[in-house]
Amino acid sequence: MAERVQACTPCHGIEGRGTNDPYFPRLAGKPAGYLYNQLLAFRSGRRRYPPMNYLLQFLPDPYLKQMSEYFAAQHPPLPAMPTPNVSAEVLKRGDDLVNSGDADKGVPACASCHGTLLTGQEPAIPGLLGLRATYLSAQLGGWRYGTRTAIAPDCMQIVAGHLTEADVTAVAAWLSAQPAPANPVPAAKGSFTLPLACGSQPRGGN
Ligand code: HEC
Ligand code: HEC
Repeated sequence: MAERVQACTPCHGIEGRGTNDPYFPRLAGKPAGYLYNQLLAFRSGRRRYPPMNYLLQFLPDPYLKQMSEYFAAQHPPLPAMPTPNVSAEVLKRGDDLVNSGDADKGVPACASCHGTLLTGQEPAIPGLLGLRATYLSAQLGGWRYGTRTAIAPDCMQIVAGHLTEADVTAVAAWLSAQPAPANPVPAAKGSFTLPLACGSQPRGGN
């Protein structure tokens, strides 16, 4: 498998640990079901990034599944993150949104789905730590503008749709400023109930 995924290394780093490019995401340790959903989405063109759409075009499902399992099982150290250059107020807004949400604006706490430790939940909710602010804002922007979608009902589109540009900056800054979790393993499947239905993570398991 390490040989098969060599084509991925220039952009995703050895063992999927990421590179210095701010928009190339780390893959290591993300839940296998989440990675698999992304590979299916890139292969079908539902999630767009031309080099990946092209690379996956002719790869069969079992191959995508094996690559997902390979990257999910890698645990290289998390990279050091640049310190976000925002005010204490902005960080406070980010902290509030992530851990408490904003009921008036219809935003559930990010932690209510991504876990109180923000390490995600098996099989298909990714963790939010160890990702750069630039990557986080680009993904949230993708959902707000409809260039990134997930399996319907797309709960992330609802969540991101209720965030302003300033909210996106705040959550991305706060998340990227957190220390690496001591144990980055995602929470067990079904260990807490999601506040909204998500097509990629059916309630009651799949
Ligand atoms: C030319 C660079 C490049 C190559 C080669 C590449 N990727 Fe990617 N990959 C990206 C970028 C950039 C993104 C983020 C795109 C976006 O913003 O949506 C991405 C996203 C992903 C994601 C989604 C990550 C997430 O957290 O949502 C997965 C999974 C993935 N790539 C797997 C692979 C695999 C497996 C290979 C090898 C078969 C590969 N990629 C090869 C650049 C690349
Ligand atoms: C109702 C549950 C739910 C809530 C609340 C939620 N998320 Fe998500 N999130 C998901 C699911 C499910 C996915 C995986 C979607 C997919 O398959 O592409 C996801 C994916 C993501 C990703 C993509 C990660 C990557 O590696 O590309 C980011 C970033 C993200 N969420 C940020 C947030 C932020 C920030 C908040 C709070 C403002 C939030 N989420 C609230 C369910 C949720």
